[in-house]
Amino acid sequence: MQTRIGILTGGGDCPGLNAVIRAVVKTAAQRGWQTIGILGGFEGLLSPVRTRPLDYHEMDGLLFVGGTILGTSNKGHFAAKTGHGETRRIPEAVLDEACHNFKQLGLRALVVVGGDGSLSIAQQLFEHGMPVVGVPKTIDNDIEATEVTFGFDSAVHCATDALDRLRTTAASHDRVMVLEVMGRYAGWIAVHAGIAGGGDVILIPEIPFRYESICEKIADRERAGKKFTLVVVAEGARPEGGTFSTVGPAEANREARLGGIGSIVAAEIQKRTGKETRVCVLGHLQRGGAPTSFDRFLCTRFGAHAVRLVEEERYGCMAAYRPPEIVAVKISDAVGRLRTVPCDGELIRIGRALGISFGN
Ligand code: F6P
Repeated sequence: MQTRIGILTGGGDCPGLNAVIRAVVKTAAQRGWQTIGILGGFEGLLSPVRTRPLDYHEMDGLLFVGGTILGTSNKGHFAAKTGHGETRRIPEAVLDEACHNFKQLGLRALVVVGGDGSLSIAQQLFEHGMPVVGVPKTIDNDIEATEVTFGFDSAVHCATDALDRLRTTAASHDRVMVLEVMGRYAGWIAVHAGIAGGGDVILIPEIPFRYESICEKIADRERAGKKFTLVVVAEGARPEGGTFSTVGPAEANREARLGGIGSIVAAEIQKRTGKETRVCVLGHLQRGGAPTSFDRFLCTRFGAHAVRLVEEERYGCMAAYRPPEIVAVKISDAVGRLRTVPCDGELIRIGRALGISFGN
């Protein structure tokens, strides 16, 4: 009987998911294996099971298509993350049902493409007896054990482009422009895009900020004849002694939705400096659309490596990028401990050397 492997995409979508699916299907087909797509994230493993075979020819042109042809979900029966990043045990009955259906499908292994939440679910399924391998996805770049996750480069590209655009309008009107970017509890997108896009102030969750410090930077620029300022705010940034800004009420078994800090910072800057200040929330633009060539390349390597992990029966492992190579690491070494921007690391040092304010 032909070997069959399953693949699913979990959590929030991200540029490059389809590129990983394509790489898995093509690499598996080279071995004479068939790939079955599980639809709608992990929920597709629950009865009634939702799957569809992925045909080799269907992969044509998928490399640069945003989103995921399998669909995804970041809520439901499997939610392994709640509140502010806490891990939750998935109910035994849910794990049993998923493992039972997996066996019924006649799959040799399941490739899980996801971020910290989905890989935490994958780990629990693995501990429950399911042969699982992982691929690290997230625009937030907050997963341990890999130098970079796919989707991050595309999000940074989008945020940098936004800063380029905001710069010209800020300069024309002598305004302060605040750009709120995603990233959850990590400031990777803000720091990378902030430096690449010439931001003057970068506020990240790792470094609680003070408004006095931000306003000082704006005043310094004024004195130097620079009448506009670009401020990049990560959605998880917060003032010293303050809390995270969230959107809407907390939902059961679901991560808190961060957001709103950009408007708060903009209003406070305008109040304190008297300068006209505007906010732009980049939102899901960072997650949509085509992956960059870096991400396409990374996704392709990750997907091919995942199939190799199945072939070598290295279950409980995921593909990771340790430049210049793609290697295997244990999923348990990657999940449950968010990778954040080191406050005394090279990125922050470079930023400070350039005169960027981190608001502290
Ligand atoms: O984890 C990816 C991410 O885009 C975060 O940066 C952001 O906080 C969150 O997902 C948004 O999720 P949702 O699409 O459910 O609002």
